[in-house]
Amino acid sequence: MVLPMRPAILLLSLLPSFILPCFAQNCLSDTFSNNRLYTHCSSLGRLSATLYWTYHPSNGTADIAYRAQEESSGFVSWAINPSSSGMIGANALLAFHDSAGTVTAITYPFSNFTPSVRDSNLSFRVYSREAEYSGGQYTIYATVELPGNRTSLDTVWQAGQVSGGVPVSHALSGDNVDSIATTNFLSGESSSSGGSSKEHRKNIHGVLNAVSWGVLMPLGVIIARYLRVFKSADPAWFYLHVACQCSAYIIGVAGWGLGLKLGSESAGITYESHRDIGIALFCLATLQVFALLLRPNKDNKYRIYWNIYHHSVGYCVIILSVVEIFKGFDILDPAKKWKRAYIAVVATLGAIALVLEAVTWAIVLKRRSRSSEKSHHGADGANGYGCRQHQVA
Ligand SMILES: *[C@@H]1O[C@H](CO)[C@@H](O)[C@H](O)[C@H]1NC(C)=O
Ligand SMILES: *[C@@H]1O[C@H](CO)[C@@H](O)[C@H](O)[C@H]1NC(C)=O
Ligand SMILES: *[C@@H]1O[C@H](CO)[C@@H](O)[C@H](O)[C@H]1NC(C)=O
Repeated sequence: MVLPMRPAILLLSLLPSFILPCFAQNCLSDTFSNNRLYTHCSSLGRLSATLYWTYHPSNGTADIAYRAQEESSGFVSWAINPSSSGMIGANALLAFHDSAGTVTAITYPFSNFTPSVRDSNLSFRVYSREAEYSGGQYTIYATVELPGNRTSLDTVWQAGQVSGGVPVSHALSGDNVDSIATTNFLSGESSSSGGSSKEHRKNIHGVLNAVSWGVLMPLGVIIARYLRVFKSADPAWFYLHVACQCSAYIIGVAGWGLGLKLGSESAGITYESHRDIGIALFCLATLQVFALLLRPNKDNKYRIYWNIYHHSVGYCVIILSVVEIFKGFDILDPAKKWKRAYIAVVATLGAIALVLEAVTWAIVLKRRSRSSEKSHHGADGANGYGCRQHQVA
């Protein structure tokens, strides 16, 4: 138990640095055209975006500037969602270069996931709007009525591609799905409650699954395949293997369940292959756990079929897990170092397996040649090296 748990503890201890983005509030010194000034600002932490505003309690309006880095061929947008959170119901201001190459600002209320964006009235009043592009940044200026005279509002922002002079699409991973925050126009707090707690849970999902499916399970296979060649490790390898795979299964199912929950919450965005492989992995791994209970005795003539089944499903799970984890990296899009760290772990496990494979073959061939004249008794010979070891013993 000590051996398989160690990587888990190591990775979990790294978790906080994975999660905490830094929200610096040095944005008040930023400058704007026409000497516009704002009393509040918030670095939104995603998509290199910052929101600046001045709230007027007397008439429930806010002067807003939204600034974000984006290529001139793309669009940026910032929206208030008065009815829910996320894209559906978002009343957006969008800035982009139209087909004539002019920077333009339009408004559009999103009611479905495949909109055809064109200038349309929002559900609340927009008194003015304007956009400019300079230094690789779009800035949208607007004066809006805060819907329902509320001061705490769900906001969402986005950046993406323009085609034929209209915004058409945006990425469905990383920052682009976490750009949600509740902004308090009165206090100036912009807590990315929705986005950040979701981001937090996505990271937990990622770490749990990378540790269980991606590290513990291959480790358990290495233990089973290579440890049993050593006589002294004979029953021990089996218990280590079972302990390793069972703890991997428990942690893995927790991470898997969290993944399903996250999937059910992200309306409009489905990572189909990630979801399908995840479900297949859960089924195969559950099958492996039940297979343990149905394992025929070593001398049973069906044991050979059980072994073939157990090994092929096991290797399938390992390969699918690694594929799944890399798909997860592409979706979550964490800092490069995490992907590199996982590549290093997988490469290390692969190298260890390769060396042990060579050592095992050397040992087995040596034993076989030594015992070639001795008679064989009983077993079916299909139980891998462990069985041969029993034969020569
Ligand atoms: C709202 O009130 C502020 C002053 O409190 C004023 O400067 C602004 O023009 C008003 N906005 C509208 C749209 O009436
Ligand atoms: C918002 O509140 C202000 C001050 O209480 C009031 O003057 C204004 O009419 C309200 N606006 C709306 C749309 O209810
Ligand atoms: C949009 O709002 C303006 C002013 O409130 C109004 O004059 C115009 O008819 C509206 N347009 C549409 C398409 O509803």
